[in-house]
Amino acid sequence: MKVRKAVIPAAGLGTRMLPATKTVPKELLPLVDKPVIQYVIEEAVASGIEDILIITNRAKSAMDDYFDYYPELEERLLRAGKYEEADEVKRAADLANIFYVRQKEIKGLGHAVWRAKRFIGDEPFAVLLGDDIMMGKKPVLSQLIEAAEEYRASTVGMQLVADEAVSSYSSLLLEPVKDRVMRVLDVNEKPTPEEKFSNYAVLGRYVLTPRIFDILENTRPGRNGEVQLTDGLKQLCHEETMMAVDFEGVRYDTGNLKGFLEATVDFALADDKVGPWMKDFIRQKAQML
Ligand code: G1P
Repeated sequence: MKVRKAVIPAAGLGTRMLPATKTVPKELLPLVDKPVIQYVIEEAVASGIEDILIITNRAKSAMDDYFDYYPELEERLLRAGKYEEADEVKRAADLANIFYVRQKEIKGLGHAVWRAKRFIGDEPFAVLLGDDIMMGKKPVLSQLIEAAEEYRASTVGMQLVADEAVSSYSSLLLEPVKDRVMRVLDVNEKPTPEEKFSNYAVLGRYVLTPRIFDILENTRPGRNGEVQLTDGLKQLCHEETMMAVDFEGVRYDTGNLKGFLEATVDFALADDKVGPWMKDFIRQKAQML
């Protein structure tokens, strides 16, 4: 099973990052010098994905512009001898084949993924949530794709989370298979302490078989009155084999302010250009506190 296509749902309102996200799509907020969504797309491409569908809404057209050429800007940069900058500007447009479809109505993550049905057709595909940014040696999505190919099954990315965080994610009921790989027996969206299966939470990366589309089409609104992807996964794991990979890498939730700030500091520290400066700056600040 070859995974060539990915879906990035990016139709959320960004209410956890207001007021900035009133007019700037949260996916375009910069982490160091690149918008958040570019990291997600780079991870997908590094994992072998060729075609990417971004699910947008009417307030997100700046995203299409970002992944387009901008000849006037590129020419001006080249004339000024700013070759590296010109390359960077153009590179964003050449990363992958990017397509867009609008969600039209805000009806939840499951509904957003369902909008990709026509684009995906009848093959397994990846879903990457735009808020979840991963940092690690091996692209997280590629870790999932390896397991999905080995077991010929849908596969979700997971990590252990603290007790107080369990209710923010979907919680997995698992059967160990081998190091870092388990079989999914059940899953619950944002459980109460009584409903939780385990502290293993699904964190923003999925490889799914196209069966999910028929399931989502008939999935009723769940938590928050929205069609939840997790409710679709619940049915899918009862019908077909589903695996979960305890992926290697650090995951940041850039959809909330603290996660965004943590990612900003860590990505700046890891950056060739500003990393050494950032380290000195943090040391100086720490002495003042
Ligand atoms: C979404 C999903 C949830 C998942 C989480 C982290 O929640 O609904 O199942 O565990 O992403 O990837 P959200 O962060 O949109 O509230």
